[in-house]
Amino acid sequence: MQPSDTPLRPVIFYPDIPAIKFIAQTRLPEEYHEETAHDIKRLAEAIRCLDIRGAPALGVAGAYGIALAALTATASEPEKFREEVSNAADLLRSTRPTAVNLFYGIDRVLTAVLAEQTVSSARERAVSEAEEVADDDSRTCHAIGEHGRNILPPSCRILTHCNAGALACREWGTALGVIRSGVQAGVKVQVYACETRPLLQGARLTSWELAQDGIDVTVITDSMAASLMRKGMIDVVIVGADRITKDAVFNKIGTYMHAVCADAHHIPFYVAAPFSTFDEESAEADIIVEERSRDEIACFGGRKTIPDGVKVYNPAFDATPVSLVTGIITEHGIFRLPEDLSDIRAIRQRS
Ligand code: MRU
Repeated sequence: MQPSDTPLRPVIFYPDIPAIKFIAQTRLPEEYHEETAHDIKRLAEAIRCLDIRGAPALGVAGAYGIALAALTATASEPEKFREEVSNAADLLRSTRPTAVNLFYGIDRVLTAVLAEQTVSSARERAVSEAEEVADDDSRTCHAIGEHGRNILPPSCRILTHCNAGALACREWGTALGVIRSGVQAGVKVQVYACETRPLLQGARLTSWELAQDGIDVTVITDSMAASLMRKGMIDVVIVGADRITKDAVFNKIGTYMHAVCADAHHIPFYVAAPFSTFDEESAEADIIVEERSRDEIACFGGRKTIPDGVKVYNPAFDATPVSLVTGIITEHGIFRLPEDLSDIRAIRQRS
């Protein structure tokens, strides 16, 4: 079990070992199990298999990963050392293409490392910059919660998709951060968590972490969402994001379907995400959507569900046009696209 007096943190860095400890999320909810990565290869594996997942948590893992690479690099000559750390960055970048936060975390620490003249100063800088990335994410999620709680009516039934909670960030969460901050402020909340086929992040993870906090949560299958909306059982939809371009929000496959249904039923559809998820100079068409393996769909509960030889299409994310998004809840307030694009650009340039 996760100890109840500490914040739920999916990824923790121990520079003195050096190592990165992470919750093996694929094992939840049957088992709360922590594993340790002592090198970048193990960290990359954990990201690929989704033991570490969720855009902001990927950003933190990427940042910690570069710091780990700096601490474990064998080269003592600065040029060779930089090459080793840059190769580690390439390996981490190759794990998952869609969540932009991964690249943000990697690049922030790598830039800091490459600016240093000596190996020892680069190591020191890598550790402090990685901790800064993680601390920024904690602060950001709490700020998202504070801004987002204002959109919740005093009693509120919320639909969410996938897991945009503490498990997907450094702590607290984005979409679930809004819910947690709402509950703290006295909002009476009822959450409907879509199970999120095929890997069930909603059923396995969102329900697990909300239940741990004593927040009322009910799991539904993804295909039930429209019916609940039609029956008047949903007041607001709040989801996270993996990347926000100038024209679309990329998030877990199925999100677009909820946005279309929310629009049809006049239900507000909010995205909660940090500024590090914006990729506002890109457009939907520029983005690579990760395609995952056949097995994730062709087997269920240990049984084969699709005959051999039958094709499977398994994109991990979809794009929701910004016209369907009521607002994007960030650490700097709530924005709309395309109206607020220049404000978003200005804030991103300042930070
Ligand atoms: O494939 P995953 O589990 O990494 O997908 C995660 C999501 O789609 C989340 O909704 C998104 O990363 C936002 S997390 C705050």
